[in-house]
Amino acid sequence: MQEQKNPLSMQTVDVKQEALEHVWMHATPMQEVAPEIGSRIIVEGKGCRVTDIEGRTYIDALAGLWLVNIGYGRREVAEAAARQMERIHYVSSAGYTTVPTTVLANKLAEITPGSLARTFFVSGGSEAVESAIKIAKQYHYLQGFPRRYKVISRRYSYHGATFGAMSVSAARYMKKSIFEPLMPGTMHVPPPYCYRCDYGMTYPSCELYCARAIEQTVRFEDPETVAAIIAEPISASCGIVVPPPEYLGMLRQICDRYGILLIADEVINGFGRTGKMFACEHWNLEPDIMTVAKGLTSGYVPMGAAIVKPEIADVFMGERKRAIQHLLTFGGHAAAAAAALENLAIIERENLVENSAQVGAYLLDQLRQLSDHPMVGDVRGLGLLCGVELVKDKKTREPFAEADELPKRMTEKLRDRGMICRVAGNVIPFSPPLVVTRSDVDEMVRIVKESIEEFAREAGIQ
Ligand SMILES: Cc1ncc(COP(=O)(O)O)c(C=O)c1O
Repeated sequence: MQEQKNPLSMQTVDVKQEALEHVWMHATPMQEVAPEIGSRIIVEGKGCRVTDIEGRTYIDALAGLWLVNIGYGRREVAEAAARQMERIHYVSSAGYTTVPTTVLANKLAEITPGSLARTFFVSGGSEAVESAIKIAKQYHYLQGFPRRYKVISRRYSYHGATFGAMSVSAARYMKKSIFEPLMPGTMHVPPPYCYRCDYGMTYPSCELYCARAIEQTVRFEDPETVAAIIAEPISASCGIVVPPPEYLGMLRQICDRYGILLIADEVINGFGRTGKMFACEHWNLEPDIMTVAKGLTSGYVPMGAAIVKPEIADVFMGERKRAIQHLLTFGGHAAAAAAALENLAIIERENLVENSAQVGAYLLDQLRQLSDHPMVGDVRGLGLLCGVELVKDKKTREPFAEADELPKRMTEKLRDRGMICRVAGNVIPFSPPLVVTRSDVDEMVRIVKESIEEFAREAGIQ
């Protein structure tokens, strides 16, 4: 019998070569990773750490892409998914469901804020946002308001890569004008980013002009044309922007006043990331629709969801012609639901939300000790979602220019010292697995401190 070659036992050199020739890494110029491709092929992970194909281990300060909340290497999740796969791994999302999918929908109704109770399952964050936008539009249509099609979001926020989600996004690092014209009716308002207020105002004397300006936009546009406002409670891509305490309540009031749906995007914020199960809880915010993904399964399998209030979902029930005009093959995937349930059980069993609050407070405190450095402009965050904003000039808050290549160079410096992160704009983000310990934090803060000092020396900043 001819011996079959196991593709997973390829020699290191083959894998590196084949990755360079055939893999298309997202948002990554392949020639940039080519010299260090060995550090980009990850072969295993445990807790907060991953190991590359050359045997080097890193602490993962970003939990993959902000999602491995329970940490790497959880056999329980693999086993839960495998058990479900052996029984029935998938059924049609149109007209069928499964036991784990139902139990998960019920669990989400229990743990999400307010009356959110009906879940439309999808495969990730972009699909969750895309679904939320379509739910909002069809909801208004069914209610007799077909002109309500506009969606308001905040500048510098990221909500996903598919067309609708990209249209409402406005992250600094995505050149979406390439894909214009985008979804009609999207508009962006300034975020509650107090360190760099778009209006040049200062909190609290600004009296939340950024929130009041949203109401002005709604009125200017004609409220009867606005379907939804979408916002992350804490904006990750804006640079870990925690809003002033009154902000989200004001957003809720504006939506209520004009019959607009409020979509809280908790794709990153959710499942313990900010020290509460959902970030909305910090401000008692009850959104009409909540989008989740990432931490729902900690990335063990892809899954996301749009979770909706009953009074909105009920409008779609009843007659056949009212049914939601939106269908995704993988919605409610049974094995993904089984993995999500085990992931949530681990979060609860191991008190990871509490750990996020406590170790997150320690992380913020330790990062604040870097504040004296001339390159550290601002340190902010909540729970295990924190950021250090770097500046060229502390007095003027001048940011680094594109030519300084801060994101690339700083990310490299961190990796050289054994920490995986993804510096974007001028901010070093922290979003480690929720199992992170104080000694892990000490290690990350030491690495960041050394990297900033080295960058400052090279840039002649003192
Ligand atoms: C707030 C937010 N919403 C939506 C998305 C899109 O999620 P995905 O990449 O899973 O499609 C992201 C991705 O980072 C996100 O940060």
